[in-house]
Amino acid sequence: MTDAAPARSLTLQAPAKINLFLHVVGRRADGYHLLQSVFQLIDLADTLHFDLRTDGQIVLAEPLPGVAPEDDLCIRAARLLERAANRPLTGVTIRVEKRIPMGGGLGGGSSDAATTLLALNHLWQLGFKRAQLAELGLQLGADVPFFIGGGNAWVEGIGEQLTPLQLPRRRFLVVHPGVGVATPAVFKAPDLTRTTPSVIISDFVRAASASELFGRNDLQPVAERLEPAVKFAAQALPGSRMSGSGACVFAAFDCEAAANAALQGLRERNALPAQARMWVVSSLDQYPAAALA
Ligand code: C5P
Repeated sequence: MTDAAPARSLTLQAPAKINLFLHVVGRRADGYHLLQSVFQLIDLADTLHFDLRTDGQIVLAEPLPGVAPEDDLCIRAARLLERAANRPLTGVTIRVEKRIPMGGGLGGGSSDAATTLLALNHLWQLGFKRAQLAELGLQLGADVPFFIGGGNAWVEGIGEQLTPLQLPRRRFLVVHPGVGVATPAVFKAPDLTRTTPSVIISDFVRAASASELFGRNDLQPVAERLEPAVKFAAQALPGSRMSGSGACVFAAFDCEAAANAALQGLRERNALPAQARMWVVSSLDQYPAAALA
């Protein structure tokens, strides 16, 4: 009996995250910021298709609007892995069905990059361990190691120090105000608070069972100043908070009915501009592609 032929194609969901809180506790000499955050996976996901080729080319089937193929994080992840492998490979065609809004603070690009590293490590049979892929991923974005880590986490450093965390099952209403926010502009702002005192994980865990959100997002006042539509969305959704560097804001609910009622309320009050988008999503415990490494 012979072994089954190695897989030649894979289709994977690449889910988004929200930051339940995000504190800026310092700054490194290279300008990157030291954070404390809890990253929560949610079931709003891009779908990624990988098909091995025979000509060694790395091809993006359909470029995303406004993103040159060479800048696409899936292509950059594939090339990075190819360089790390340091041997001739078969190539791949990658097709992305995009659902996670870009410039939304939901980590869509980083999740696509993480799933690409995990999928191609498997399809190309490279045998890199998860920790090695996370190290490569950090070159593509500070959020990539979190997705490769595979589950919800307490996150420190610039995003690469991960402590696994069990989080309660919840629903979230996520609102995208219809405009994106550029992450570098938020982090560069002179008025960004960079000295929030460090907290310890048990402070968060104690508060996590309460209905109110723990801490705050230090990036939110800056994003709201740069893009007033973010402030408008945050004010329209009671108890909400911004995710990442924006532009999305979210509120947490114990059940789907309550989240749907909040969404209906926003619609009926005509509280948001026409270009705003909304999703009721569920918390996720595991990152699908992480099972491959
Ligand atoms: O790594 P990522 O692409 O998410 O970051 C985009 C920009 O945000 C970086 O170039 C950097 O200016 C800023 N950033 C930061 N500190 C972090 C993460 C990002 O200053 N921890």
